Amino acid sequence: MSNFITSNCATLSGSIKVPGDKSISHRSIILGSISHGITKVSGFLEGEDSLATLNAFKSMGVKIERNGSNVVINGVGMHGLKAATSPLNLGNSGTSMRLMSGLLSAQSFDSELCGDESLSKRPMGRVIEPLRQMGADISGVDSKPPLSIKGGNQLSAIEYTLPVASAQIKSCVLLAGLYSEGKTTVIENGVSRDHTERMLRGFGYDVDSSHNTISIQGGGSLQACEIEVPSDISSAAFFMVAACISENSNIVLKAVNINSTRTGVIDILKLMGGKIELTNERLQAGELIADIKVYSSRLKGIQIPKNLVPIAIDEFPVLFIAASCAQGETVLTGAKELRVKESDRIQVMADGLTSLGIENEVLEDGIKIKGGQFKEQTSLIKSHHDHRISMAFAIASVRSKFNIEIEGVDNVKTSFPNFVELANSIGMSIKEVA
Ligand code: S3P
Repeated sequence: MSNFITSNCATLSGSIKVPGDKSISHRSIILGSISHGITKVSGFLEGEDSLATLNAFKSMGVKIERNGSNVVINGVGMHGLKAATSPLNLGNSGTSMRLMSGLLSAQSFDSELCGDESLSKRPMGRVIEPLRQMGADISGVDSKPPLSIKGGNQLSAIEYTLPVASAQIKSCVLLAGLYSEGKTTVIENGVSRDHTERMLRGFGYDVDSSHNTISIQGGGSLQACEIEVPSDISSAAFFMVAACISENSNIVLKAVNINSTRTGVIDILKLMGGKIELTNERLQAGELIADIKVYSSRLKGIQIPKNLVPIAIDEFPVLFIAASCAQGETVLTGAKELRVKESDRIQVMADGLTSLGIENEVLEDGIKIKGGQFKEQTSLIKSHHDHRISMAFAIASVRSKFNIEIEGVDNVKTSFPNFVELANSIGMSIKEVA
């Protein structure tokens, strides 16, 4: 197990490109594998999560070659996957498990899906429920992993209203819908990321979406295509906050995906007074990207608008660091989902902030944070092996006069393998020690 030890730094500057988007990387492997022809992916995220998806499809007989972030997938078509010879281990990756459950429920063979300690605690009832309605034979242990899926069932289309705004549940149902008889419709009760819908269209599959309703007709096929994965806004978010809370700083984050279902972090930071400019906006493989300039800012506490919660869902750990450095109080509600991410991100962040002397109050579905000054830590910050908690507290070092030590940072590799290198290249001071 390794730890981060961070020291304070002066100013941040430079122009950097964070790695490829995790959500898009997963989907490129899934859809590339079941398409006809050769899909070439560039900018693929070489993180453990997306590699778990890649290896799972290799185990199901798909020929996939990878050279760094360039991946070539030899699609086997809708019905060409084969049973893996052992359970598919998806590590820490909830996205792999939830999306693949949908796809594998519709195959002719049985599958077993398992993961690490954190993934084994995450709720899967949210995908089991709609898949059973479609006719799938899927079960977990108390609705948690490992999941067993019996193949050989012809699924039927359903109309499903999502109980929570979740792209993972939506995508799971849509992937099962590709194989179902009839038209599958998902109704969202809040905006969630739309990469599955966009990428399905990129592979030539018709997707009807209007307002909050997305429909696909089962029984079609996908044609291979080229995918250039843009930089992940969820990774860029760490440095957006770092630049906002540091003195005399300005940085540029290049070619970041600014899909409007992902930009809540920019909206929230701007509401807090963050100086952020988007330049050079352009389209890349069906996704909008831009270079993001971020300057030192005087942040103020805000009540976070509820509609921004699902489109900033992964960025709250680092937004809590921004709130800790803002003047006044920041209040987040309507974010219960944070409690079932890789860790209980409300409680784990609250504990770490308390250890750094930041006043906060935990709410059932959010948190209140009073901006203040980081004091010398009273206990080691426990990341609970959650990548985004580790990186968020590393960003706090920009404003702390004292070293900060964060325990159990190994999982940063799941989403952002070169985090330390990039952070240090813009002037931060983070050491990873075994
Ligand atoms: C993801 C969707 C989100 C997000 C996760 C990736 C995806 O989860 O938190 O990191 O790629 O579909 P939910 O859909 O459960 O909110």
